[in-house]
Amino acid sequence: MKISAFAPATLANFCVGFDVLGMALSPINGELWGDIVEIETIGTENNSILTVTGPFASRLPKDPKQNLVTKTLRLFENELASKNIPRKNLHISLSKNMPVSSGVGSSASSIVATLVALNKIYGANFKNELLLKIAGECEGFVSGDAHYDNVAPCLLGGLQLIVPDPFQPVRKLPFFSNYQIIVVQPEIELSTKAMRAILPPQIPRSEALSQWKCLASFIHALHANDENLFHQSFTDSIAEPYRRSYIPGFDNIKHAALDAGALGCSIAGSGPALFAVSKNLNQSENIAQVMMKNFTKNGINSVSKICTVDLIGSRIL
Ligand code: HSE
Repeated sequence: MKISAFAPATLANFCVGFDVLGMALSPINGELWGDIVEIETIGTENNSILTVTGPFASRLPKDPKQNLVTKTLRLFENELASKNIPRKNLHISLSKNMPVSSGVGSSASSIVATLVALNKIYGANFKNELLLKIAGECEGFVSGDAHYDNVAPCLLGGLQLIVPDPFQPVRKLPFFSNYQIIVVQPEIELSTKAMRAILPPQIPRSEALSQWKCLASFIHALHANDENLFHQSFTDSIAEPYRRSYIPGFDNIKHAALDAGALGCSIAGSGPALFAVSKNLNQSENIAQVMMKNFTKNGINSVSKICTVDLIGSRIL
């Protein structure tokens, strides 16, 4: 038996909701943008083995034990053991299509594709809540603490809000169906762990107040289909002010995107990728160009993708 699972790129924080909002992305050119994990059962005399291929394979640790796929497998096997489900020996192949430390949910994509493929090959039928719990824990291996704003949209698709409900920890939010998300990825890397470590441990009351006003307004704007309020709420005073200096030319790039008509522009996840929002395809293409041009001015090559929301999330291929 052989199973292949795909898990999409994601935009954590979505500017307004640090650690509590995340969106799954689907390029408008139809490309499947994310990692693919293929799993096959092998004879009982072998231990499970991992093979890594794909354009970013060389960026992963050489020791398979250090690979996130192996770590994810271990946590999944712990769950199997707690349910008395016997372990199988597997050949796992990761096609590493996502750039690492880029801000578009590379780790989440590997973790979620692995979990979805394992769930299928074992016929385990673990519920999404359990898969999310394991996925969040695996994210913690990378970033230092569990956060769900990449893994939740990656698993379930859409724009997801993390909520304090232990039985159903996420809610899918509506999103403007005519909006596009422009993602620009510079050829530099930023570690999520490092980008979390530079954030101040405490937030002054005025900043907290301003941010929760924006997050509340943003959620309301989505439910009320209020584009004006969406635009006005699109602010991040929690992470962006501290992370922007790690992205060369950030202020100019953001201004250029807004001048070109973007409805908002911010850091994708913990960076260094940036994203902008637009509702006109010609404008989106122009925004992508001006953002890349501004990265070039800072001596950095970049690539761009124009996306819409991926409403499906992870899937068996
Ligand atoms: N919410 C996380 C952060 C996302 O901004 O640190 C990391 O991809």
